[in-house]
Amino acid sequence: MTHKIALLPGDGVGPEVTDAAVAALSRAGELHNHSFEFESYPVGGAAIDECGEPAPDATIDACKASDAVFLGAVGGPKWDNAPVRPEAGLLKIRKELGLFANLRPTQVHPDLVAQSPLRPELVAGVDFLVIRELTGGIYFGEKSRDKDSATDVCTYSVEEVERVARVAFKAAKGRCRRVTSIDKANVLETSRLWRDVVVRIGRDEFPEITLDHLLVDAAAMHLIQRPKSFDVILTENMFGDILSDEASVLTGSIGTMGSASLGTSNPGLFEPIHGSAPDIAGQDKANPIGAIASAAMLLRHGLGAFDAAEAIDHAISVAITNGETTPDLGGNLSGSEAAKAIVDLIGVTASPHHLITSEISRRFEPA
Ligand SMILES: NC(=O)c1ccc[n+]([C@@H]2O[C@H](COP(=O)([O-])OP(=O)(O)OC[C@H]3O[C@@H](n4cnc5c(N)ncnc54)[C@H](O)[C@@H]3O)[C@@H](O)[C@H]2O)c1
Repeated sequence: MTHKIALLPGDGVGPEVTDAAVAALSRAGELHNHSFEFESYPVGGAAIDECGEPAPDATIDACKASDAVFLGAVGGPKWDNAPVRPEAGLLKIRKELGLFANLRPTQVHPDLVAQSPLRPELVAGVDFLVIRELTGGIYFGEKSRDKDSATDVCTYSVEEVERVARVAFKAAKGRCRRVTSIDKANVLETSRLWRDVVVRIGRDEFPEITLDHLLVDAAAMHLIQRPKSFDVILTENMFGDILSDEASVLTGSIGTMGSASLGTSNPGLFEPIHGSAPDIAGQDKANPIGAIASAAMLLRHGLGAFDAAEAIDHAISVAITNGETTPDLGGNLSGSEAAKAIVDLIGVTASPHHLITSEISRRFEPA
């Protein structure tokens, strides 16, 4: 079967890491009988330059007509003062595709423990999943600005919280059956609603899952002090944005982490969590692992191609063990060399040790 994949390479290192993801998908597809039809569309700053807006209708229509969407990264100093910023394009695509749940798995590879700024005993064995609400909250609220003040409105509806809470509880069923919901219920009304809804969904629909709550300020601390104690973290849009970047530091480099953004009917969008990294763009230095891990998530959560996804996860893991990595992980390969090393390892039998860093058995229907 041929899968239509919409590619949105974007800006900075986005096109470089998108090439890596395409190579990994093609190789895994060859080995596991999936073929792909890749088509690229402009997004972000590249789309502003080409069409005058960061998410043209043609790009959104192409995403909706695809089986899955892969995005590199958007943004960069060139567009910092543009009337509409590249990042607005990404927010629009998430909203238009109804991608309300963002999954960000955080696992520390045994051979990268030393790369983490935390002590080895704190990070060895870290394995949690952040589920961030993606289409509500302050990022999507009304905004205004005059000479003396500015306003960003934060709103959440019961339904918005219910649907993302269900994703978290379902994910926890396939893991260690614990959900930690993070809010700011001591101050924010939206957080009080968030907590009430999460408690009700947990109690009524997922009584087998243990639920606890943390205030976001305390959570920022606990992520550093006891990262191993987390299983599934459920949180709203802005808190999830900040905490998942904090979490990425545990893994040794932001360049290693992938993500999936899922909704109910439209195709999912898969992207590394890093940005366009303007400081290293065009130098073939970008770590391709986050993009390739996102390709594995595309196969798993977007297409249900589990064997192909696992083959990619194994290849990433073996490459790390072999030290075939970019400088951010202590290696000396260029981005394209590191990508080739991983692609060449897809399909090579791995030892059980390497199963640790796979998302294996994290199979669930998000909605
Ligand atoms: N989803 C997205 O497209 C997304 C996400 C975050 C930031 N951004 C945008 O990206 C631009 C740059 O943002 P930033 O500098 O805050 O964040 P960034 O993630 O682009 O970079 C932060 C640091 O991490 C490094 N880094 C990032 N990806 C890497 C990789 N694959 N390999 C090795 N090192 C890597 C960079 O070199 C930089 O030092 C901004 O315009 C921002 O708005 C886009």
